[in-house]
Amino acid sequence: MRLYRATLAENRTLRRGLHLLELEAPALAQAVRPGQYCMVRCAEEGSFDPLLRRPFFVHSIEGERCRILLQVRGRGTAWLARRPAGAELDLLGPLGQGWRLPSRLSTLLLVAEGFGVVTLALLAQRASEQGLAVTLVQEVTQLPEGYPAALLPEEVEYHLVTSDGGTGQQRTLLTVLGDYLSWADAVCLGVSRETALQLRRHFERLRRPGFAQVAVLHPLVCGTGTCLACALETSRGPRLICQEGPIFDLQILTQG
Ligand SMILES: Cc1cc2nc3c(=O)[nH]c(=O)nc-3n(C[C@H](O)[C@H](O)[C@H](O)COP(=O)(O)OP(=O)(O)OC[C@H]3O[C@@H](n4cnc5c(N)ncnc54)[C@H](O)[C@@H]3O)c2cc1C
Ligand code: FES
Repeated sequence: MRLYRATLAENRTLRRGLHLLELEAPALAQAVRPGQYCMVRCAEEGSFDPLLRRPFFVHSIEGERCRILLQVRGRGTAWLARRPAGAELDLLGPLGQGWRLPSRLSTLLLVAEGFGVVTLALLAQRASEQGLAVTLVQEVTQLPEGYPAALLPEEVEYHLVTSDGGTGQQRTLLTVLGDYLSWADAVCLGVSRETALQLRRHFERLRRPGFAQVAVLHPLVCGTGTCLACALETSRGPRLICQEGPIFDLQILTQG
């Protein structure tokens, strides 16, 4: 983990409230692994409002540039979304444990619920660069929430699941995931804890040891293991999300 100053090379608005920030950050681009994140200062130089840094994944890497896909939620993200090209950003990272893929793997299934797709984007890039067959299935409740598929590497197959098609059919991860699971050698989930547990209950394959991991997102205060505010109860005892996560084996997840 280290502190980086990165120059914002581009701030592209993809749609209202959704931005792609492109940062000149060569050392971070070298160091970060899929599933790790950075804590970004979201305040003017000399100001401490908001006081706490905000966590963000690196969405994708091109050469020495790291991209962040930014969804505006509150004050910190709104401030970041207003940064013009040329602005300097202050980042702490990479933090946490990323996705751990088994060594012998040829097919990888990524499953996202809404904006949970940000947990998986860099993994999709790296896995397809390594020649894995990668499929991303994303469930959204409304069509505009879908992932801008142009951001994915061409090799990644992208399937959108939504009940918002006016067809009266309820298509959800629970109803469509069976076929995808029998194809996959491993599964990475960017879904809520409740959905992850529901899927695990429903699909026997997701209960296989070492087969599935999940990203657990929770507002983080320090990101460095100091405040102890992010403890997650698991079947193997408490774990700090910021340090031992945010990626966990699906097997050890328990009801909150
Ligand atoms: C490990 C990690 C990686 C993340 N990566 C990204 C990313 O790549 N891109 C991105 O846009 N966002 C990401 N987020 C979410 C992002 O950090 C929050 O949206 C941001 O901190 C909100 O700050 P704010 O000041 O804008 O809003 P605040 O005013 O702090 O909060 C606004 C609302 O958002 C809620 N909120 C804050 N954090 C979360 C969270 N983690 N999950 C659910 N609700 C939350 C608050 O409870 C509040 O209701 C990530 C979160 C985590 C934990
Ligand atoms: S966020 Fe402070 S210990 Fe995890």
